[in-house]
Amino acid sequence: MSTSDSKHTQTLATLGVSSAEQVHSLFAELRSQFDAAARSATDENSWKALRDAWFGRRSGVLTLVTDNWLKPSSPELKRAVGASLNELRTHVDGRIETRRIAIEAGAEAATNARDRMDLSLPGVIRPIGTHHLIRQVFEEIEDIFFSIGFSVVEGPEIETPYYNFEALNIPEHHPVRDDMDTFYLELPKGVPGPLLLRTHTSPVQIHTMEKRQPPVRVIVPGKVYRRDNPDATHSFMFHQIEGLAVDADITFCDFTGTIDYFVKQFFGESVKTRFRPSYFPFTEPSVEFDASCIFCGGSGTAKTGGTCGKCKGAGWIELFGAGMVDPAVYGFVNYDPKKVSGFAFGIGIDRLAMLKYGIDDIQVFFQNDVRFLRQFP
Ligand code: FA5
Repeated sequence: MSTSDSKHTQTLATLGVSSAEQVHSLFAELRSQFDAAARSATDENSWKALRDAWFGRRSGVLTLVTDNWLKPSSPELKRAVGASLNELRTHVDGRIETRRIAIEAGAEAATNARDRMDLSLPGVIRPIGTHHLIRQVFEEIEDIFFSIGFSVVEGPEIETPYYNFEALNIPEHHPVRDDMDTFYLELPKGVPGPLLLRTHTSPVQIHTMEKRQPPVRVIVPGKVYRRDNPDATHSFMFHQIEGLAVDADITFCDFTGTIDYFVKQFFGESVKTRFRPSYFPFTEPSVEFDASCIFCGGSGTAKTGGTCGKCKGAGWIELFGAGMVDPAVYGFVNYDPKKVSGFAFGIGIDRLAMLKYGIDDIQVFFQNDVRFLRQFP
């Protein structure tokens, strides 16, 4: 309040006020000064300043009016001053309280507006990435086998030669070991060895049968390692899914029926399967499964004419190896070969994914080029 406004710092006598009318107009003037100040008290700080300016105990306007106008006023004016002062005090008190309520409500409304959630807004979508195509194919295959009663088991990537070879009926110096030349670990002195990176998921057949009695129906997804030189179809680390079913009376028909079901689920109902004789030391008989070429429909002729480039005109594409579990293997896990029978298969996931998704080079799986990965969201 400016000095020209500060009549309340002077007495009525100094101001030349000698009648009740003058008292009333003096109070009216003060009231409109207060109203103007109250209008600009729009936040908590300015509201506190207003309250202190008018109600301050030592130098607040109402204290000064009491001290300078009421107390020293002449007996004739005292009544008018007292009444006007009471009226002013009630007015100031009321307005200050309503301003406080309004300011608090405004602050609350602002907080509410800030905190209010608009449930109609679309959510914030964070780019969290997707599963790698190999993982997607693993899951696709797992789902197919889940649907016919298989469950997933896993095993170690570091193996002893016993599990990787011997217990699978591959003794030392067996020529098949040449096809699975692998990485042996350099071990610190005193650590019993040798240990190697598994060359296939088949050792998990042994781990599983050691732990469980038939019936066994498992699939084993995982990484395997071989000392193969990288090219379009070879990698030194790749992925397999092993399958093993052993029970009291599993037949060769159960075996081929299961594989046919899987291939049709994975590639489509129209795809046919066939098997050819093959050799694995841990299955007898052993077979290699083929599927009718998914690119030319098994005709051997490309849709555009000429020989199909994918099956090279054969109409069939090699898929994976399998067979009935060799009774010799049961000897390593204390199963009675006279009482149980079963089948096993080992699918190379990378090559299966290449086939299904038309990928020409296995190396793209491991190069982590997002332009490739984003094609398989
Ligand atoms: C085996 O590994 C057997 N354990 C499979 C098996 C299991 C047979 C159970 C019978 C019963 P093979 O060496 O053929 O078999 O390999 C299986 C698959 O792995 C191949 O068909 C191929 O798809 C894939 N594969 C082999 N070497 C590589 C490589 N270097 N890079 C990518 N894929 C490979």
